Amino acid sequence: MKWLCAGAELVNDSSRGFDIEGRKLFAVRRGGQVYVYSNRCPHRGVALEWHPDQFLDPSNSLIQCATHGALFLIEDGECVAGPCAGQALTRIPSREDAQGIWVSL
Ligand code: FES
Repeated sequence: MKWLCAGAELVNDSSRGFDIEGRKLFAVRRGGQVYVYSNRCPHRGVALEWHPDQFLDPSNSLIQCATHGALFLIEDGECVAGPCAGQALTRIPSREDAQGIWVSL
């Protein structure tokens, strides 16, 4: 597995973007749990964020694509509103231990 960051570098209700071996990913922590997805909107295949590390909507309760505003569930990446409703972000398997957050690419 590849190391992403220390656990403390991803605080609750926040998101962070990463570029690991040329793959763009982002991670969200909610309720203590970490969720990692490919940084690729299923609508047009573009990166989701306009501002670094900002992948959430203003209420921090959904993932938002900055291009056309699609909204995705944090827990499973399903698009619940917007032009790609019914599609989903690609989940990246991850785990967290004392060393930090790890992903398998
Ligand atoms: S590219 Fe994400 S909603 Fe259109």
